[in-house]
Order: sequence, then C-alpha cells, then structure tokens
Amino acid sequence: MSATATTGKGLEGIIAGDTSICQVDQTSLIYRGYEIADLARHATFEEVAYLLLVGEKPDAEQLRFFRDELVANRALPRQVVEYLHAAGPMLAEGTAVPMDVLRTGVSILGNLDKDSQDNSPEANLRKAKRLLAKAPTIIGHMQCIIDGRELVAPNTGGDAKLSHAANLLYLMSGQRPSDDYVKTMDVSLILYAEHDFNASTFTGRVIAGTLSDMHGAVTGAIAALKGPLHGGANEAAMEMLKEIRTDIGPKNEVGAVTEWMHRAFETKRKLMGFGHRVYKNGDHRAGILHKMGRAIAERQGSEQVALFELGEIVQRIMLEEKSIFPNVDFPCGMTYFVMGIPVPQYTPIFVASRLSGWCAHIAEQHANNRLIRPIANYTGAPLRKWRS
Ligand code: CMC
Repeated sequence: MSATATTGKGLEGIIAGDTSICQVDQTSLIYRGYEIADLARHATFEEVAYLLLVGEKPDAEQLRFFRDELVANRALPRQVVEYLHAAGPMLAEGTAVPMDVLRTGVSILGNLDKDSQDNSPEANLRKAKRLLAKAPTIIGHMQCIIDGRELVAPNTGGDAKLSHAANLLYLMSGQRPSDDYVKTMDVSLILYAEHDFNASTFTGRVIAGTLSDMHGAVTGAIAALKGPLHGGANEAAMEMLKEIRTDIGPKNEVGAVTEWMHRAFETKRKLMGFGHRVYKNGDHRAGILHKMGRAIAERQGSEQVALFELGEIVQRIMLEEKSIFPNVDFPCGMTYFVMGIPVPQYTPIFVASRLSGWCAHIAEQHANNRLIRPIANYTGAPLRKWRS
C-alpha cells in the first residue's frame, strides 16, 4: 500500500493479518476447522477452550488434565478479593460497572502472576489457563458483593465437581444450577469463545504486537468488549427490550411494537443486538441460542415466553423493514434474563468465554510477530508557522 492510500472507514473489508484460529464468513463460523453448530451440539466449553488454545481437540486424558488445571486455579489471590470488596461502593454508586471491575481484576492478576513478563508459548498457555479459571470467580465474587451475600467458596473458587459453566452459575448465585441452565450456559460460552479479528481480539493483538504481555493485552481487550457496539450489546439488547415493554405495556401488540421501532428508525437509533459488520445474511450463532433460551422460557411460564415473543416481533419487523438480522447478543440478552442472571453481568460472562479466543490470538501474535502500525490519512490544518 502506498503512503497516501486510504481504506474504508472502520477498516471494513480489510484483511489485517493471518490466523489459523478461526474463520468467519457469510456461510459459516469455524474454530480450528470445526463448524460452530457441530461444536455447540457435541463439545463442551472446556473442550472448545482447549481446542482454541492448543490447536487440536483434546483426547480424554488431555481433557481431564486440562479440567483439573482449571479447577486448581479457580481461587483468587487475596489482593484481588480485597480489590473486589473495595469496588463494592464504586459499583453501588455507579462510577464503575462490572466490566470495569473485571478489567481491573484481570490487571491485578497480571501484577501477581509469576509468568507475567514471559511471552513464551509455554508461559502464555499457563497464563491463559489461569485467566480462564479465575475470570468466573471474579464475576461470581463480584455478584455476591453487589448482592451483599457471603462469597461462594472463596478458598477453592467453587465446587471442583462442577463444570466451568456450572461453576460460573454456582459462584454467582450460591445455588447448584439445573441441567438445562448448565447446558445453555455451556453452549453460550462455546458460541462466544472466538470470532477472528473482532474489535476486542484485534485490540489484544495490537497490544501483543508491541511485545507487551498477555494480561495487559487481555485488559485492553476487555475495555474494547465493553462497548455496546461490541460485547456490551447483550446487556444493551435486554435493556432495550425492557424499555419497549415499559413503553408498550404487557401485551405484545405488533402495532405498538412497530410504532416504537418507527420512532427509533426516525431518530436513527441503532437497535441493540441487530446487525453485524461481517454477517449480512444472519449470525450463525443467534438461532442456536434463541432456540435454547426459548426452551427454558417455555418450561418457566407465559411471562418468560412473552419476552421471547416480543423479541421475535422485533426481529420480524427489523428483517421486513430493514433487512437486518439479529446477532448473537440479541438472543443472549433474553436467554440470560430468563435464567435470572443480573443484566450487568452479561458482558462479563462474554469475557469469561472470549478469554479463550483472546489468549489464543495473543499467543499467535507473539509467536509470529510484526508490530501492528497502520498509517492515517491526515485531514487537519495545512502546514503553518508557530509565531510566539
Ligand atoms: N439498528 C438500526 N440500524 C442499523 C443497525 C441496527 N442495529 N445496524 C446497522 N444498521 C443500519 C445503519 O444505520 C446503516 O444504515 P444507513 O446505510 O441507512 O446509514 C446500515 O444499517 C449499515 O450499518 P453500519 O453501521 O454501517 O454497519 P457497521 O458494519 O458499521 O456496524 C454494527 C455493525 C454491529 C456496529 C451495527 O450493526 C450496530 O451498531 N449494531 C447494534 C450493536 C450490536 O448489536 N452490536 C453487536 C455486534 S455483533 C456481536 C458482538 O460483537 O458482540
């Protein structure tokens, strides 16, 4: 590219590098050769995390070892627990939201990690496992502090018998989750685990590309994921549905929903959980999660089903009038809501999953690095003289 060439706004359509981790296109989403629907049906999150981090599907012994390592690393260092307690008032006052607290918690973990300054493949894998193991504990302990409850299993970071998904739910609520909640959470973690050069992963790669460390790169990635145009959309989508419900009342009248949406279109308001930079014919993940979330709603009762019906009306109008499909964050919002998960923890849960993809990308960047440094098209003032 010449020094004066320009690219599309937001780097749309630009291939910014190579990766062997994930392929995203209109027809499929593939993690290291495996299609997403195949993984959602047949794999567990732990298997998918191993696949992303190591490159191959684990055999039974490798999986057992990997699970044991995650379980052994779940408990948080004292300094992080102290920070979470200190963050309680910040969360209560609203100067911080859970994504901010998780970001700082991860940064402190970096300060304490004995491998923190080592970017070798071996150290990166060890750090990735520790981050993966500890993120649900940060989220769970934080929720207990928000709720004013005792921390759940602070010495062990949960129940060693529980899977990653089940333990995350247990740490947040103190209740052993039902099988359908565990399966749905597990699948949502699989769906969220990886998505090539999305904004947060690219952020992580840019940081790693300076030869900075994994915890720093993940801290930056969390900041990028928080925004409502990216991972924050799962919380924003649910808040939008609540707003529609408040404005139109408890009945799902199509006319009232249409009017609400027309008002949004007139003000150029973006509907959260819709649209995608790459997928223009639908997000491969959305239908999988919608089906599972709706099944939970159907087992729970008419109020929960009504939420999904409202979402389906919004989806239909969006498609008919704008030809825009829901992305994974739209069904995620409704699904986590009927599971009773507090809305501000939806994006932190996304982090607990996407950590697997981020860490794989950070290690890939370190292993074959070149500084990521594009050029800008200058649009400022012409050359002028500074006179004092
Ligand atoms: N609601 C209303 N209109 C939309 C939406 C939406 N959600 N998304 C796109 N459009 C319209 C947009 O206004 C534009 O119309 P026009 O050409 O008339 O100006 C057209 O579609 C193209 O949109 P764009 O903003 O140029 O598309 P983009 O590729 O820059 O943006 C996006 C992609 C995801 C940022 C955008 O669709 C959006 O803001 N969606 C809402 C936030 C969201 O759900 N984000 C989650 C993304 S996917 C999963 C993840 O990362 O977590």
